[in-house]
Amino acid sequence: MDGQETQVSLAQRELVGVGSTHPRRQAIAQQPTVRLAQASSVAVFARRYLIDTDYLLPKDLIEANRLDFQHFYLKHVLKSNYLAPLNKEQVHTILDVGCGTGRWVIEMARAFPQARVYGIDLEWSTPPQKLPPNVAFLQGDVLEGLPFSDHTFDYVHQRLLALGIPAKKWPFLLQELQRVTAPGGWIELFEGGDTFVNAGPALRLFIEWYRQACKRAGYDPAIMDRLGNLFQSLGLRNVRLETLSVPVGPWGRHEGVMLQKNLMATFPGLFPLLQQQLNIDERQFNIVLREINREMEIMQVEYQYYVVYGQK
Ligand SMILES: C[S@@+](CC[C@H](N)C(=O)[O-])C[C@H]1O[C@@H](n2cnc3c(N)ncnc32)[C@H](O)[C@@H]1O
Repeated sequence: MDGQETQVSLAQRELVGVGSTHPRRQAIAQQPTVRLAQASSVAVFARRYLIDTDYLLPKDLIEANRLDFQHFYLKHVLKSNYLAPLNKEQVHTILDVGCGTGRWVIEMARAFPQARVYGIDLEWSTPPQKLPPNVAFLQGDVLEGLPFSDHTFDYVHQRLLALGIPAKKWPFLLQELQRVTAPGGWIELFEGGDTFVNAGPALRLFIEWYRQACKRAGYDPAIMDRLGNLFQSLGLRNVRLETLSVPVGPWGRHEGVMLQKNLMATFPGLFPLLQQQLNIDERQFNIVLREINREMEIMQVEYQYYVVYGQK
C-alpha cells in the first residue's frame, strides 16, 4: 500500500504540475487530479472480473503475472518495446493506454529519460516498487474519453486492448488517440488476433467458439486486419501495418514454449464469455483446453500478431 500511495501522490503532483517546464507537460498539468482506486469487480470461477466496464479478461494477480510474462515474451520476440520510427530527441511525452501492470511504461521511462511517460488503465495493477521519476499512472476509461488536452503526446501506444473495446466503440477510441497526439507525433497499436496457422481440431473448435461469442457480445476479433485502413481514414500519414507470425509450442524452441504458456494462461479467462454467450459448460471447456495444450505440444502451430503505426 505504501508504494501505491507514493505513486498516487506522484501522479497527483504531476497533474498539478510540480516541476513542469515543457509546454506539453504544462498542458497535462492543467488536467484534473485522478485518484487510483480499486474498480468494482465480481468473482467468476475463482477469477476476478471488473464490472461496469467493457473489459472481458480477468483482473487479478494471476492475470497480472501473465501480463508481465507476456511483456517479457514480446520484448524478447520484437527486440524492442516499440516499432514506430521515433526520433528520441523529439519525444517529450508518451502515453500508454490500457497500461496493465505498467512494465512497458516503466521501461519506456528508463529508455526516454527526457520524456514524461503516462500510463492509464481502468485499474492500476503495478506491484509496489520504486518508479523512475518521469512516470505517472492514472486511472481512467479510455472509452469515456482521455483526460488530456488535444495535441498532448508525441507518442501514444496501446497494446492488446481488443478485448476491452466493443466493435462500435473503435471509431471513438481511435479519434481519442488521434486527438491527444501532437502534430507530427506517432500512434502505435499492437494487437493479437484470432488467426492461427496449422491449428488442430480442438484449437479450431475453440477459435470458432471465441468468434461466435465475441460476435454475440458485440466485439470484433478480426478488427486488427482493418486497423491500417482505419488509421488511414483518420488522416494519419506514414501508416504501416505489419503482421508477425510466431511459433507456438516446442517446435518454436524457447519463444514457442513461452507463447504456448501465455496462450494457455489466457484462454481460461475467456470462460465467462463463452459460458454467457454460448452456454459452454465448465467440463467441456476444460476438456477442450487440455486437448489444445496437447496439440500445441506436437503440431507446428503459428499465431499472428498485428502492429499498426501512423503519424499525425
Ligand atoms: C490485455 S491487458 C494489456 C496490458 C498492457 N497493455 C500490456 O500489454 O501488458 C489490457 C489492459 O487494458 C485495460 N483496459 C481495458 N479496457 C480499458 C479501457 N476502456 N480504458 C482503460 N484501460 C482499459 C485492462 O484493465 C488491462 O489492464
